[in-house]
Amino acid sequence: MTEIYINGNLYKVSLPEDTPLLWVIREHIGLTGTKFGCGKGICGACTVLLEEEPIRSCITPLKAVKGKRITTIEGIPANHPVKRAWVELNVPQCGYCQPGQIVEAYALLKKNPRASREEIVRTMSSHLCRCGTYPRILRAILRAQS
Ligand code: FES
Repeated sequence: MTEIYINGNLYKVSLPEDTPLLWVIREHIGLTGTKFGCGKGICGACTVLLEEEPIRSCITPLKAVKGKRITTIEGIPANHPVKRAWVELNVPQCGYCQPGQIVEAYALLKKNPRASREEIVRTMSSHLCRCGTYPRILRAILRAQS
C-alpha cells in the first residue's frame, strides 16, 4: 500500500512500486487531465508537480512519490492567472499538450513571478506542441505576469 497526496487528497494505492505515476493518476485515480504522449520523458504532456517541482510522470515510479504532494492540472484553480490567460488568448489548438504546458508555466511563475522572456522560452522549450502554439503560450505567460 502506497500513500500519495494528489491535489490535497490522500490516496492509498495497492500497485507495484515501479508503476509509472502517470498510470496511477489516470487509470487508478481517474484524473485524466494529465496526458500520455511519448512515454519517455521527452514531450512534457505528462507533467505534474512533485511538491513544487515539475516532473515527467510517465517516467516517475510510484515509489519515488510515496508520501509526497502531487499537483496535477486539475489541482490548479480555474481562476489562476495562468489558466485565465490561456483561455483569454485561446492558446490551445488540439489541446493535447496543454495541461503539461500549463503545469510547467504555473510552476515557473510560482518560483519566479518576474521570469524574463528568455527564461520563459528556455523553460517552456522542454515541452513539445505538434500544433505549434508556442507564440500563444509565450503571450499567455507574459499576460499572466501582468
Ligand atoms: Fe511523459 Fe512525454 S508522456 S514526457
